[in-house]
Amino acid sequence: MSLEAAATPLLAVKNLGRMFPSGAHRFGGKGNLFKAVDNVSFNISSNETLGLVGESGSGKSTIGRAVLMLPPPTSGSVKFEGTELVGLPASELRRTRRRMQVVFQDPFAALNPRMSIGAFISEPLEIHNVGDNPKVRGEMVAALLAKVGLDPAMAARYPHQFSGGQRQRIAIARAIALRPSFIVADEPTSALDVSIQAQVVNLLQDLQAELGLSFLFISHDLRLVRHVSHRIGVLRRGRLVELASTAQLFNNPRHPYTRRLMSAIRFPDPVSERSRIIAADIEAGMGGGPSELVEAEAGHFVEMPV
Ligand SMILES: Nc1ncnc2c1ncn2[C@@H]1O[C@H](COP(=O)(O)OP(=O)(O)OP(=O)(O)O)[C@@H](O)[C@H]1O
Ligand SMILES: [Mg+2]
Repeated sequence: MSLEAAATPLLAVKNLGRMFPSGAHRFGGKGNLFKAVDNVSFNISSNETLGLVGESGSGKSTIGRAVLMLPPPTSGSVKFEGTELVGLPASELRRTRRRMQVVFQDPFAALNPRMSIGAFISEPLEIHNVGDNPKVRGEMVAALLAKVGLDPAMAARYPHQFSGGQRQRIAIARAIALRPSFIVADEPTSALDVSIQAQVVNLLQDLQAELGLSFLFISHDLRLVRHVSHRIGVLRRGRLVELASTAQLFNNPRHPYTRRLMSAIRFPDPVSERSRIIAADIEAGMGGGPSELVEAEAGHFVEMPV
């Protein structure tokens, strides 16, 4: 097996990079470019959940957005359902993007406070001319609300009338309205009460089974990623350091950074965690030099210095 897994994967990301101007440059100086994401490659198959873990600032959201061309990567390739998205004309990209959706961490920021939730869920249907008339679209919205476990009679209400978990259900209803095959879920439960998180995760898993969805599931919570993912990529400072099946990663974590994440499991204190990681990096001689992913066993890739 190679990084290009069986047949044509649903999503094939190759050597993806994303640069941002570093501080000085941003204010008109001659600053350098900073690599937020460096040479990241992975595939996602139909019906598969690939988890992406890494500490805050490691580039998880940047990858999630780059895959959707929001904004596009500064280098590399993203093929979705066989089509190269990098450089695709806007009109074609728009058509392809129907099949790729995103669910963000903060459902309140995603919702429009002045729009009824029915109008919010119906909006993508209107934009893409799905459903012949408002009545048909209203029925579609009712079915979507039921699918995410909400009462269809709530369509006329506004976002402030819902709880955090319900708002995330509304955001998910909109995300599945156009029948996507792929969803980037970027910390979809991190803003929710612990008691509600499991319900939203279960909903996403039910929808995966019912609609044949694939997920790029981004989280800093290794336990959650273990629970939902078929395979997991471990990101460290913009680089993928390990990529393996969930069982392989947890039974036999090969990269020292993966082992450290597992010992920290929930990054209780980001500041002390970061200094601990930097200190351990120095100790382990991991200076961030050139490296590549090597297949250590079938389907289990680990970063090695070159
Ligand atoms: N638009 C931007 N302009 C400049 N720098 C950016 C931009 N977006 C992200 N970055 C930088 O890129 C790096 C990766 O950020 P990113 O948001 O992808 O991290 P993350 O892994 O999602 O972190 P978190 O867990 O906190 O959400 C960070 O250093 C961040 O400051
Ligand atoms: Mg993020």
